[in-house]
Amino acid sequence: MIKIIRDINSSLGVKLPRIQAEEARLRLIKAGILLKAKKIIKNRDFVYLPISDSASLVNILEDLEYQIEYQVFPDELLKPSIIDSLKLEFPDEPWEEISVKFDQIGEIGLLRLDSELTSKAFRLKVGTKILSAYPKINSVLNKLDITEGIKRTFPIEFLAGEEKYESWHKEYGVLIKVDLKNAYFNPRLAEEHRRLSLEVTNDDRILDLFTGVGPFSLHCAKEHHCEVIAVDINPYAIKNLNASIKRNKLKGSIIPIIGDAGKVFRENRYFDRIIINLPNHSINYLAYASKLVKNGGIITFYQFVEKNIQPPQSLVSIIDEKLKNVCTYDILTNRVGREVSPSRIQVNVDLRIYNE
Ligand SMILES: C[S@@+](CC[C@H](N)C(=O)[O-])C[C@H]1O[C@@H](n2cnc3c(N)ncnc32)[C@H](O)[C@@H]1O
Repeated sequence: MIKIIRDINSSLGVKLPRIQAEEARLRLIKAGILLKAKKIIKNRDFVYLPISDSASLVNILEDLEYQIEYQVFPDELLKPSIIDSLKLEFPDEPWEEISVKFDQIGEIGLLRLDSELTSKAFRLKVGTKILSAYPKINSVLNKLDITEGIKRTFPIEFLAGEEKYESWHKEYGVLIKVDLKNAYFNPRLAEEHRRLSLEVTNDDRILDLFTGVGPFSLHCAKEHHCEVIAVDINPYAIKNLNASIKRNKLKGSIIPIIGDAGKVFRENRYFDRIIINLPNHSINYLAYASKLVKNGGIITFYQFVEKNIQPPQSLVSIIDEKLKNVCTYDILTNRVGREVSPSRIQVNVDLRIYNE
């Protein structure tokens, strides 16, 4: 008989692949069984969530790849999140109405603190508070408006520390040079960058259209002996990608190109995988990409969809409309990804293309 020996200090937890952990965390909070007094444990590939009870897990996490495991979860020192501590420190602000988010990007703290409902004096105080709470942050910025324009950048307000917009950010060991003023970057896509790179194999030829500062390309080339062509119309984005190529020890190669992603190639059936990440318009590049991918190759694309029209199913007929006279295809995955606004979400789709 096998005897399972449990550390006396261990407690009940669930183990999940990192890509599924956030979804699971939210469901466990909703079900009231995530243990707040214990810290979540993460390693390179998995996240362990401390729970109080496993009886209802089958229903809560049924479609996720989870395992029940005993772990020694360190005690959460009941340190409130930065947003919670701001609420305690500035109780008179109309917090129910203010939208606020916070990300650490390398040495920069990036807030999204509503500038219509808050005063500049208040935002400066918040900046100073963040600077003192995070020893690794030396510059605090505030995103003032939505991401827009061809470069997908946004207006930024400087709040505290050193006025700088460039930094080195790390995702799963990949160093990414960012320049928030001049080129798009979103640290919330880290899990997706990682997920995709784990699906790539050695010798794959990858085309990363709309590469930005190149996180998908860098993740793939760091992990595999693959060949990546990375295209962006913004020269600042490519300048940063070039800096990252020099800084990382890559197994594969990346060829950065400044140019219009929709025009750099003609029909060539050269690529094993094409990434299309211009979520306002990705769907419009499907037919073009399906002529560049090999027969049996994969197109991964990200598209914003209105929540009220039943994503991700709502995309299926649009994909069909775009590809019906061009090629045949299988939808390999069609997932609802992150929420981008109260009314919109991003849908992540993998298509296998048959174009012979
Ligand atoms: C959503 S961002 C890229 C995100 C990036 N793949 C990532 O994961 O961080 C979209 C990018 O498309 C670029 N872009 C917009 N229109 C373009 C075009 N016609 N050709 C090439 N790049 C374009 C922008 O400069 C921007 O960097």
